[in-house]
Amino acid sequence: MSETSPKLRAELEGIPTYKPGKPAAAGGPAAYKLSSNENPYPPLPGVMETVTAAASSFNRYPDMACTALTGELSERFAVPASHLATGTGSVGVAQQLLQATSGPGDEVIYAWRSFEAYPIITQISGATSVQVPLTPGDVHDLDAMAGAVTDRTRLVFVCNPNNPTGTAVRRAELERFLDRVPSDVLVVLDEAYREFVRDAEVPDGVEIYRERPNVCVLRTFSKAYGLAGLRVGFAIAHEPVAAALRKTAVPFGVSQIAQDAAIASLRAEDELIGRVGSLVCERNRVLEALREQGWTVPETQANFVWLRLGERTTAFAQACERAGAVVRPFAGEGVRVTVGETEANDIFLKVAEGFRKDL
Ligand SMILES: Cc1ncc(COP(=O)(O)O)c(C=O)c1O
Repeated sequence: MSETSPKLRAELEGIPTYKPGKPAAAGGPAAYKLSSNENPYPPLPGVMETVTAAASSFNRYPDMACTALTGELSERFAVPASHLATGTGSVGVAQQLLQATSGPGDEVIYAWRSFEAYPIITQISGATSVQVPLTPGDVHDLDAMAGAVTDRTRLVFVCNPNNPTGTAVRRAELERFLDRVPSDVLVVLDEAYREFVRDAEVPDGVEIYRERPNVCVLRTFSKAYGLAGLRVGFAIAHEPVAAALRKTAVPFGVSQIAQDAAIASLRAEDELIGRVGSLVCERNRVLEALREQGWTVPETQANFVWLRLGERTTAFAQACERAGAVVRPFAGEGVRVTVGETEANDIFLKVAEGFRKDL
């Protein structure tokens, strides 16, 4: 028997691992999970029944083309079905975008810090990450990002609102940026948190995509729609890009349960709007309370807030956990705290107040 192990791609060496938000420990003091930007509500009305019905046929493969869901999305966004591509969560679709555009020798630009999957999926593709620091106000530096484009650039992620800071770029600056990016470079507007945006100046990427063939919009059912565990997201892009996404899709990646649940969730829109509205109210309450406590917190358009704690980040996360809420620390930088149940948000605020007094 040979002693050598199978040859693996060199690109995989040193790849950072994705750190999922820590779960709330069952029976432990931390009863609330504020670490993954999930929706704290139970499934929307009718979704559980739909899922239960779909479960009775999971001996069958799902509809590989997600025909019904695509039809529903096509109507809702007034886009041709051929401009839609579904995948296993929007992170799955993002990975397909990289497979479709980028490989060794190519460059992928994104802000940093931003969604932690970007460096991972870029490295897997074999392309090189070009990370452009956020401004001191924790917002995308779009001028610097446009300046970083070279003839090797294949794809640029703009995470709007940005994970983990919650900050969003506005229409005029985004349009100016897009005018500077060559038309053969794909710009991906990652709008996982779009439903929580209340600033009218933050553009809807779907409107931008209509005029710009090199723009692709990513959306997900994981956040506002509360289907994180079912793994379904989608892209809206012009024909060549959407077609490439269908080529790079994992066959049968989106389960029938996920497809049917997504349709049922879209049809429960009134309830969804109410829930998102309540979360936005809670977000504003949390933000105001933090500012009253004396923290400098960036304006957030998402379902989470970002607290820059520097060296005290880990201690803060541990204090939250002891108090009953798990948050998401980025050691040495800050914590991202999802807006959850009122009681959970109050636990976080109380810990924040204590830390503020100790400063
Ligand atoms: C900015 C951003 N994009 C994409 C995703 C991926 O979501 P999903 O794969 O569940 O659709 C997340 C999840 O945290 C996110 O924060």
